[in-house]
Amino acid sequence: MAVNTTIYYFSGTGNSLKIAEDLSTNMRDSKIVRVAYNTLHITADEDSAKIGFVFPVYFRGLPRMLEGFIKKLKVNSNAYFFAVANFGSSAALSFQQIDGILKEKGARLNANFSVFMPGNMWFMYYPHPEKDFSERIEEEPGKCKIIAGKINCKSENPLPILEKLEEDKKMYNAFIPSTVSNNFWVNEKCTGCAVCSKVCPAKNVYFIDGRPVWKKNCEQCLACLHWCPVGAIEYKQDSIGRKRYHNPLIHSRKMFVDSLKKK
Ligand SMILES: Cc1cc2nc3c(=O)[nH]c(=O)nc-3n(C[C@H](O)[C@H](O)[C@H](O)COP(=O)(O)O)c2cc1C
Repeated sequence: MAVNTTIYYFSGTGNSLKIAEDLSTNMRDSKIVRVAYNTLHITADEDSAKIGFVFPVYFRGLPRMLEGFIKKLKVNSNAYFFAVANFGSSAALSFQQIDGILKEKGARLNANFSVFMPGNMWFMYYPHPEKDFSERIEEEPGKCKIIAGKINCKSENPLPILEKLEEDKKMYNAFIPSTVSNNFWVNEKCTGCAVCSKVCPAKNVYFIDGRPVWKKNCEQCLACLHWCPVGAIEYKQDSIGRKRYHNPLIHSRKMFVDSLKKK
């Protein structure tokens, strides 16, 4: 049966799932759908009156899997489209990218919203202050309530102005996630519990002799590394001895891709 609002979200470490849930809680007649390998068969949504995309910013733009999903999605061009980006520092190209894809379908991005969340790739560049993490987690539900109120009344806003367009584009063009599979490895703490495999949105982690092995279709979401309950997964030498992050209000089971099938 058709719903009024469908929110498609992509998430590695749970921030986008938390945002999608909190938006949905504040909307009547809405549903959330995770974009992952088991939902890529969805290629049309011509019934929802409002369609939203919730996602983490990757290399200044959209996660590649979500970008491909939106490109393929057949939509009713009269629907209201919104996007909620979450990130460590900025939404950069992501709203323009969605608007561009929608324009190809005769539609456009009516509203864009941004939510600061803990950056989950901090181990590769700088140690992130713990205080920022806790403040962002605390403020997120209130922000989502306000955003949902605006979406409920189909409020519109212009696309943000991009001050570092060329730099952003250069960064995004260098984002080829499938090439990073070889950078993951497992240390002696691995218990073979397979959480890494279950949370992977790309079905990219399988097991040989009780140890995880990465295939070549990584989306670089870092779910495997951050959800490992014993910190056994490493990325190059960059993650050694560094704290892991996942949204503290999301249980790992909610990120198991297969569990979505049972709903
Ligand atoms: C591969 C990768 C690239 C990222 N690139 C950016 C970026 O360009 N700008 C930014 O502000 N945050 C960046 N981040 C941080 C995420 O956008 C942020 O932590 C987000 O909240 C994660 O959402 P999730 O928990 O739903 O996966 C990046 C994270 C990853 C894993």
